[in-house]
Amino acid sequence: MTEQDEILSLRTELHEHNRRYYVLHQPIISDQKFDEMMRRLQDLEKMHPELDDPNSPSVRVGSDLSDDFKTIKHKRPMLSLANTYNEQEVIDFYNRIKEGLKGEPFQICCEMKFDGLSISLHYEKGCLTRAVTRGDGVQGDDVTNNVRTIRTIPLVLPPDLDYPDEFEIRGEVIMPFAVFEALNKERLSRGEQPFANPRNAASGTLKNKDARVVASRGLDAYLYYLLSDELPFSEHNKNLEKARQWGFQVSTATTLANNPEEIMHFIKQWDEQRHDLPYATDGIVLKVNSLDQQRSLGLTAKNPRWAIAYKFQAEQVSTPLREVTFQVGRTGVVTPVANMDPVLLAGTTVRRATLHNADVMNALDLHIGDNVLVEKGGEIIPKIIAVDKSNLPLQRGPRVAFPTHCPVCGTELVKNEDEAATYCPNDQCRPQLLGRIEHFISRKAMNIDSLGPEMVDRYFSSGKIHDPADLYYLTYEILCPPAYDLFGVPIPDNRDHLLEKKILQGIQASKSVPFERVLFALGIRFVGEIAAKILARNFKNIDNLKSATVEQLLELNGIGLVIAQSVINFLNDEANLQFIQRLREAGLKFELSEQSQVEQSDRLKGKNIVISGVFQQHSRDEYKTIIEQHGGKNVGSISAKTSFLLAGNNMGPAKLEKAAKLNILILSEDDFLQLLQ
Ligand code: IVH
Repeated sequence: MTEQDEILSLRTELHEHNRRYYVLHQPIISDQKFDEMMRRLQDLEKMHPELDDPNSPSVRVGSDLSDDFKTIKHKRPMLSLANTYNEQEVIDFYNRIKEGLKGEPFQICCEMKFDGLSISLHYEKGCLTRAVTRGDGVQGDDVTNNVRTIRTIPLVLPPDLDYPDEFEIRGEVIMPFAVFEALNKERLSRGEQPFANPRNAASGTLKNKDARVVASRGLDAYLYYLLSDELPFSEHNKNLEKARQWGFQVSTATTLANNPEEIMHFIKQWDEQRHDLPYATDGIVLKVNSLDQQRSLGLTAKNPRWAIAYKFQAEQVSTPLREVTFQVGRTGVVTPVANMDPVLLAGTTVRRATLHNADVMNALDLHIGDNVLVEKGGEIIPKIIAVDKSNLPLQRGPRVAFPTHCPVCGTELVKNEDEAATYCPNDQCRPQLLGRIEHFISRKAMNIDSLGPEMVDRYFSSGKIHDPADLYYLTYEILCPPAYDLFGVPIPDNRDHLLEKKILQGIQASKSVPFERVLFALGIRFVGEIAAKILARNFKNIDNLKSATVEQLLELNGIGLVIAQSVINFLNDEANLQFIQRLREAGLKFELSEQSQVEQSDRLKGKNIVISGVFQQHSRDEYKTIIEQHGGKNVGSISAKTSFLLAGNNMGPAKLEKAAKLNILILSEDDFLQLLQ
């Protein structure tokens, strides 16, 4: 067998093993054997880029191609469903159908309503050709590369099955609870913001620009709607049954109901049983089963008349309140947090709930030891709805009061009449100082990822750093001071202190972070990423920004009075100016680079450019921006489609070799900048 044939046969076999594993749950080979075949396929594919196939099973591992999403118009608009919340509204829906169908008999297909994000998949001759998000219903994002990494979505259907040449199948991309919890745990340990709920996590993941990240996140999908000019059946449920035979994951939790009682029975049954499902559901979808009847009922402006969603009531549980703690954040806002006995709620264990602010907390009239009713609405962070009055202890504990003084530094707290938040006004309060450093190093700010919250805490506690500017004055000697024995003789140190070296490198590297992110990193209240970008682009440097008036700031789209006032206050404070001065002296960027100020051009239009190595004149991120500004596309890995390689120092030999093998042009930093002039 030639290598080319081997590639083709490995692809067919691996598709089939994927289907057996993920859809049928009946694998016939060991994981080890599967991995072995996959590795062989990957090796062969590397040697034969001419046989590149976007539907190869190897894309499940995720390619490192990064892609901005194209907007694509849906072939058939993706409508949403009207919602109902109680039995009467379901009966009203049923009666509307009955009336619309003028007495014809009809059946309602009842299905789970998956809580994720809807996706439209297109297949041509059994191959996945396109995956598009719902977007605004008329057009959505092309997320094909990312969807290809979802293992339960078949890339290629087995040959010889009776699917139409062209069809679309819609469904929901979801993140199972277990995957969601593990992901959030990992994010928290890295000091990143956790996702609010599995739906947000699924959506954030599917919109990630790096398919490798998507591949690693364990997304899943359920399909619930088949569309084609040549559908196999004229009944919705039979079409879904067919789709299951073709290899799609279709839920078996469905039924055909003949009357409103049967619908309500299904709803009640799943309102209880859904808690045993490994993924989030937020209701039941009811669809007229006959496609002819669907057509005759038609659509309203926004929704089909033939379907409706019944939304479950959010689940509530009762659990004793043990303590309320008061957390001080980076900006000094004090947030009350309820700590309760752990209780299982909508698939996850709940221990803590935010009480938001003093007004919300006081309105609840909480006493320690009270049973409180906890609910999870759309968000994963649970809410305390009320004290469970039906289940109060005989002797109520002490009433929870909002403190008058900061629980950390003891300063008297401040609450403005027109604001919900209560503040600790002492900007030297430990959690504020630590919070400012953590914000400064976070990914979207200076991105010093070698330095996590734990190390920040350690360096802060040992007095090595007090504010973010101190980071730039750290040295190897400060981080790894020599130890002395009792006689004052230095103890030889054989450790390699890799972590400290990495931290120092990360701090150095952050000096090339562009101005807009430095501005965000400063932690000016209300100045988020977007506001920072707007300010940087318009004022170009910190001195211009410092001399801006409120009126000038308000002229900018996206900058309102609260932000404008906050910027002016911050830049008129002597301590902040000194802080900025120290950062400036350390070499951070306080003006837009020339490259980001240049007019955009389309000199790199249609070019796929790979960046590799270490650069002298601009950072990698800056080069990415420059490429985009000139209409080019930065891609992650070299393939036959790469236009050229922008090569810095210390490039990996594998990349160089691959570029040479595929005859790809290699440009140095100077060549590249010259090209743009
Ligand atoms: S059918 C025209 N079935 O709920 C009918 N939708 O507002 C189109 N959803 O956007 C949808 N589970 O994202 C359908 N079994 C299910 C569903 C479902 C979840 C989502 C879908 C849609 C939204 C309805």
